[in-house]
Amino acid sequence: MKIAMIGSGYVGLVSGACFADFGHEVVCVDKDAAKIDRLNANIMPIYEPGLDALVKSNVDAGRLSFSTDVLRSVKGCDAVFIAVGTPSRRGDGHADLSYVYAAAEELASAIIDPRTVVVTKSTVPVGTGDEVERIIRETNPQLEFAVVSNPEFLREGAAIGDFKRPDRIVVGSDVEWARDVMRAVYRPLFLNESPLLFTSRRSSELIKYAANAFLATKITFINEMADLCEKLGANVQDVSRGIGLDNRIGSKFLHAGPGYGGSCFPKDTLALLKTAQDHETPVRIVEAVVQANDLRKRAMGRKIITALGGDVRGMKIALLGLTFKPNTDDMRDAPSIAIVQTLLDAGAIVHAHDPEGMEEAAKILPDVIMASSAYDAAKNAHAVALITEWDAYRALDLKKLHAAMAGDVLVDLRNIYRTEEAQAAGFNYVSVGR
Ligand code: UGA
Repeated sequence: MKIAMIGSGYVGLVSGACFADFGHEVVCVDKDAAKIDRLNANIMPIYEPGLDALVKSNVDAGRLSFSTDVLRSVKGCDAVFIAVGTPSRRGDGHADLSYVYAAAEELASAIIDPRTVVVTKSTVPVGTGDEVERIIRETNPQLEFAVVSNPEFLREGAAIGDFKRPDRIVVGSDVEWARDVMRAVYRPLFLNESPLLFTSRRSSELIKYAANAFLATKITFINEMADLCEKLGANVQDVSRGIGLDNRIGSKFLHAGPGYGGSCFPKDTLALLKTAQDHETPVRIVEAVVQANDLRKRAMGRKIITALGGDVRGMKIALLGLTFKPNTDDMRDAPSIAIVQTLLDAGAIVHAHDPEGMEEAAKILPDVIMASSAYDAAKNAHAVALITEWDAYRALDLKKLHAAMAGDVLVDLRNIYRTEEAQAAGFNYVSVGR
């Protein structure tokens, strides 16, 4: 199969490299010529474990290439994927579809081969596929084509594994020949028995939002249970295990923490709210989730302040982990941003360390002093707060950490350590829901 990816960002690049690894011939296209030059030199625009090696081996094998030229790239393709960004629109939180529609317009005049499938992989509100189809038909009325929805379910930091061993592949289209093309595109996974679920295009578009909103709800639910545990003297990890063992609930996404962040949950829950409002159908649970998660991030800053006795003016606080989760350098909507702001507002001096995110973080958090290691950050600090559960922080020498500090407060927002071991190292230890 010959495939073009329009957009070589996170989703386009990972998907393109994985499709090439299946044996398809793939070209990843991007408007950003500098990005394409770097990709040709095997320099990745994002940090994703294993991606550089996967890209290199497929480029070397001649199956994967990069280009800025849409016209040449789509020639002879069986499937052209739209994988451009759909950020939150400034002001109202709706998904900004300008990149998707611009890509559709470009494809409308670029595609000449009959029976090309245009696949929307970008996360787009229900009905976007209809609009993409209309745009292409208007410019190119003679062309036989189909617009298919095929949402991605990749987690940053685990994207290659998620692509190659998905729980399911969702394909939204009622056009039988287009379904056949998608069957062929995903055949290697299909043979591994990953279920290929065919739905209507609109159902497929909604599945993406419903999945992310449900996962965000699960996290927010357990976070609220954690707050309740603290008041009731219960342990949220036991509660998670106790409910998660029920197959109907499932044990995943029940880790209490500082609230969800990242490029997907915050943006997609907001966009779903907008869609629901536009159709005068309240989705009150998602509304509550969005609000609870927003409030939680600053509350986590206050939790650190409370652990220090309530007045942190002039105190040094060291944060470990700034990215919204481990194995990424992504700072988008990271809880650390609100936490830092709360601490700075209260007059604290904030130092931080992150294994991959400090360069990105420094752009957003210019007042934070970046350290070369966790121990360096902790030097003379009154408190250390663990914000993101990077592997590098899972086996810290707690005695050494404590010895470096001026104070003794350890706030563990990811429940990585056991209370007894932290206390044995001399810490005044605070965690979440325990
Ligand atoms: C999420 C979904 O998991 C993917 O399936 C989806 O494809 C992706 O969004 C997307 O729409 O593109 P991602 O944002 O990369 O993936 O990260 P997650 O691993 O889902 O974590 C999101 C946030 O939830 C993080 O801040 C994480 O720390 C938090 N989280 C997750 C918890 O606080 N507790 C949990 O139990 C799980």
